[in-house]
Amino acid sequence: MSENTEAKKVTTHTLQMMKTSGEKITMLTAYDYSFAKLIDSAGIDVILVGDSASNVMAGHETTLPITLDQMIYHASSVIRGISRCLVVVDLPFGSYQSNSDIALASAIRIMKESGGHSIKLEGGEEVLDSIKKIVSAGIPVMGHLGLTPQSIYKFGTYTVRAKETDEANKLRKDAKLLEEAGCFAIVLEKIPAVLAKEVSKSISIPTIGIGAGGDCDGQVLVMHDMLGINTEFKPRFLRQYLNIHDQATKAVQQYIQDVKSNDFPNVHEQY
Ligand code: KIV
Repeated sequence: MSENTEAKKVTTHTLQMMKTSGEKITMLTAYDYSFAKLIDSAGIDVILVGDSASNVMAGHETTLPITLDQMIYHASSVIRGISRCLVVVDLPFGSYQSNSDIALASAIRIMKESGGHSIKLEGGEEVLDSIKKIVSAGIPVMGHLGLTPQSIYKFGTYTVRAKETDEANKLRKDAKLLEEAGCFAIVLEKIPAVLAKEVSKSISIPTIGIGAGGDCDGQVLVMHDMLGINTEFKPRFLRQYLNIHDQATKAVQQYIQDVKSNDFPNVHEQY
């Protein structure tokens, strides 16, 4: 697809209209200028500067170590690369859980220092006050229910959430609460497809699924997983569209061979 810089900017209102008209919303993660530029030009609706940067950019085992300063660094790089899509920035672990004043202060730092368009945070009823306060300050908030990786040490595993009745009922209730609190969309991560379908129908704001089946209003994947930059992570829900890992490995090996054998640079590649 050709450069798409003339196209109309995507806003939270656009996403709402897409849900109403039945057009699926596309979201991918990005953490730097160059990939953000590529993904935006390709026509994506939303870029998520996810705290998955902690895993795929910094090599941590979980999303917990990444800091607010680091998220702001990634988000400001992404913002310089895009011209059309909506950019959502994760509030990292520890930047909003303690109280709603701290949550608002963190959200304001993201908006002021990175230029991001909105924030995302994980959880339901327990973070409702923070969501309300951030929304009241004019900052659009995306919720995140189901598997919430910042709570991995509470869950113990990354398996499918809300399979049992109690947890499914809590998720149904949380989705309604998030809608009432003013969230513009909700990520549903790794929950049964039938539950995601039911929740998507029961609320008026868009749901964006990851491992939550095809009846969410949109889909999100981690860019490094779908492009095959990381190839170790292969959950059932992932469709890998490329194998950059193998292609880049071959390219690097060819470069090494060319330098060692005095093939590179040749006479046309020098001054
Ligand atoms: O951080 C992230 O990449 C996310 C997505 C998995 C939704 O939160």
